[in-house]
Amino acid sequence: MNTKLTRLLSIKLPVVSAPMYYASTPAMAAAATGAGAFGFIAAGFTASDALVEELQTIRKALNVGSEDPVSAGVGFLGWILDMTEGSDDPRLPVVLAERPAAIWFAFGLDLGKYIAQVRAYDASRTHKTTVFVIVNSVDEALKATHEWGVDVLVVQGNEAGGHGRGDAPVLFTLLPAVLAAIPSGSIVIAAGGISTGSQIAALLTMGADGVVLGSRLLCTPECMYPESHKKVILESKFTATVRSDAFDEVNRTAYWPSGINGRAIANDIIKDAHSGLDLETRLKQYDESQANGETNRLLIWAGEGIAFVNDAKTTKDIITELYDEAISVMKKKMF
Ligand SMILES: Cc1cc2nc3c(=O)[nH]c(=O)nc-3n(C[C@H](O)[C@H](O)[C@H](O)COP(=O)(O)O)c2cc1C
Ligand SMILES: *[C@@H]1O[C@H](CO)[C@@H](O)[C@H](O)[C@H]1NC(C)=O
Repeated sequence: MNTKLTRLLSIKLPVVSAPMYYASTPAMAAAATGAGAFGFIAAGFTASDALVEELQTIRKALNVGSEDPVSAGVGFLGWILDMTEGSDDPRLPVVLAERPAAIWFAFGLDLGKYIAQVRAYDASRTHKTTVFVIVNSVDEALKATHEWGVDVLVVQGNEAGGHGRGDAPVLFTLLPAVLAAIPSGSIVIAAGGISTGSQIAALLTMGADGVVLGSRLLCTPECMYPESHKKVILESKFTATVRSDAFDEVNRTAYWPSGINGRAIANDIIKDAHSGLDLETRLKQYDESQANGETNRLLIWAGEGIAFVNDAKTTKDIITELYDEAISVMKKKMF
């Protein structure tokens, strides 16, 4: 298959594995790229030397020489960069020096500043980094395109696992709105709730240049989620997840820009919040629950697409199967 994304990244399948802090791994990213797609690792709070090691692990798995660019990317969270880039361990230049093919930014007050930093770094070398940015609205898509000049817009719908704007429309509504608003040359990929090949066929038909798989990969052997988390996901149905600030409050990660919250498994973390308990009490409940090995307050970031996740197949098998299904759906004659 040939799309603007596959041509830009020299990949075979218009599929990207999401950077997922606490979940994605170098093994997952390497498996995605190895399957002909494109893999990301998540930087989260990871220090620069450990990120370099992770990229080297991907290099080794893909048999890429230490001086060559590596066909994988690193996803940074803007609000964490705001903390680290002024510290004594600025991570962006160290990661850029490792020549990943792409960098992905999301959820910061001024991502434009970091994109400018990538462009300035690349100005003095031949390797050019592809810049991905998550957008949750048409306004963000216009800003990312016209002010920041990003290479790939990741249009993320409300059903996505992990973080996003609480007021983001669902992908089926947001994607056509963004496509109508931006210039035709822009590269747009779709994220949120994607777990089947028929969804991929539909999104490509609507005009996306590729898709992002996040939650679909949470039960793979390459995902670092503990077995306790994977078990809950495998048993989950459509009503299983909810978007809330309550998850970050107990996770002690309530530092996201205003308007951003996270989708995770709805369990007693939500019940505690809805019953009006103050934060101190909720933290105590959460900590005790973890300490006792209980499962009713596990913090499991995940999206609505987990209703389709009923197996623990490998990253490679899932990508291959979903792609084959998408092709066969698109080949069906409508007339
Ligand atoms: C466990 C988990 C962690 C995530 N961590 C990040 C992250 O570190 N950076 C980021 O930009 N997006 C993160 N996301 C969001 C993904 O980039 C992606 O947009 C989302 O997974 C797509 O929706 P889906 O999960 O329904 O496939 C995370 C998602 C999950 C499920
Ligand atoms: C935050 O959530 C992640 C994902 O479940 C978990 O690995 C981490 O231990 C949590 N941190 C705290 C302080 O609860």
